[in-house]
Amino acid sequence: MDRIRIVGGKELNGTIPISGAKNAALPLMIAALLTEDTLVLDNVPRLADVAQLQRILGNHGVDITSVGKRVGDREYQGQTLRISASSIIDTTAPYELVSRMRASFWVLAPLVARMREARVSLPGGCAIGTRPVDLLMMALERLGAQLSIDGGYVVAKAPNGLRGAAIDFPKVTVGGTHVAIMAASLAKGTTVISNAACEPEVADLAACLNKMGARIDGAGTARITIEGVDALHGAQHPVLPDRIEAGTYAIAVATTGGDVQLTGARPELLQSPLGVLREAGAEIAVNADGIRIARNGAGIRPVTVSTAPFPGFPTDLQAQLMALMICAQGSSEITETIFENRFMHVQELARFGARISLEGETARIEGIARLRGAPVMATDLRASVSLVIAGLAAEGETMVNRVYHLDRGFERLEEKLKACGASISRISD
Ligand code: UD1
Repeated sequence: MDRIRIVGGKELNGTIPISGAKNAALPLMIAALLTEDTLVLDNVPRLADVAQLQRILGNHGVDITSVGKRVGDREYQGQTLRISASSIIDTTAPYELVSRMRASFWVLAPLVARMREARVSLPGGCAIGTRPVDLLMMALERLGAQLSIDGGYVVAKAPNGLRGAAIDFPKVTVGGTHVAIMAASLAKGTTVISNAACEPEVADLAACLNKMGARIDGAGTARITIEGVDALHGAQHPVLPDRIEAGTYAIAVATTGGDVQLTGARPELLQSPLGVLREAGAEIAVNADGIRIARNGAGIRPVTVSTAPFPGFPTDLQAQLMALMICAQGSSEITETIFENRFMHVQELARFGARISLEGETARIEGIARLRGAPVMATDLRASVSLVIAGLAAEGETMVNRVYHLDRGFERLEEKLKACGASISRISD
């Protein structure tokens, strides 16, 4: 199993290209199941989760070809995937495939919308709380699907097709909103989603579906209206840049000090995290190429932050912010409101000498002057990268074990950090 070795204590200086967003690429790839035509996705990041979803789609009979870089492509441009679900040969998504990645459960929506039946294993994914799928199922039931659970599988049937409905989410759910949008696009009549997730990845999915002939209005706001159509057609769409990757590197620079240009990062998708980083003492400038972040000499100021759905502070940056705050001059508070049990990084961060106490949903962090490198264990995707950030700031050697979590969501992480002066390398046993 691969490990990552870091010798910390160096500033980061240089340029980091931001990849396409994992959390946009996954629903976009799944949306290809809605049409017989080819969906061409540009700027798809090369990640383990993307490869896993290719296998899952392949199991349904979807053909995917990947095209590499072309002359004139920018450095941070990802791969192009040509996804063709001209015939779906199997409407079952088996446990062995779905249990490895939670988002693959979302195939339920396009399968039942187009094929009128689907059988999808209940998901697995990151161990960051119970993460139920009741709201995803509720949305499909509102649209007229008959759902049952059989042997760990959700079986969905809609013999006469789906029909538009009012879907009111009692809680903001990104996955639930993706599922509702995809299914409603092929339902008969009008669907109105209230309390929809406003995440940019939802807006990106809707923009792509509209290019495919869907009629979706209001994506990116809490109220989305969808006029169902009989069929969708092919389209070409670029995956939006990864705001979580950009935010992660911005936090890394704030932690280690230095000056880094995040090329291709979109500041409007990161207003809350950038505000928090400014409050913590980082200098941030927006320019034509993206975002430039620097911290030169100034100490890190403690902050009080709660995670919230977009446009609030993302739960996917909570662990990284905690790595920054263990280096702050004073005590800070981070409250996690989206996922219970998303504090697994706390005990690993403690191995660097961090002083963190947990009280319910809130972590209190007493900043310390010096972190010391340590062997640590990655527990989930975003927690893993918080350990990398702490390792970059800590004196001496850090060994991050179980890095397969990182490969699920961060493209060429060591390469990008190394180019900015980090001493980081992968050890493959
Ligand atoms: C997506 C992101 C993940 C991010 C999360 C919140 C992808 C691939 N993953 O996950 O990186 O951390 O949004 O921004 O895009 N919930 C229910 N019932 C449900 C569904 C969700 O109670 O049926 C709850 C969850 O337990 C959680 C909250 O709703 O407490 C938000 O979860 P949700 O937005 O659905 O997260 P995901 O879509 O799984």
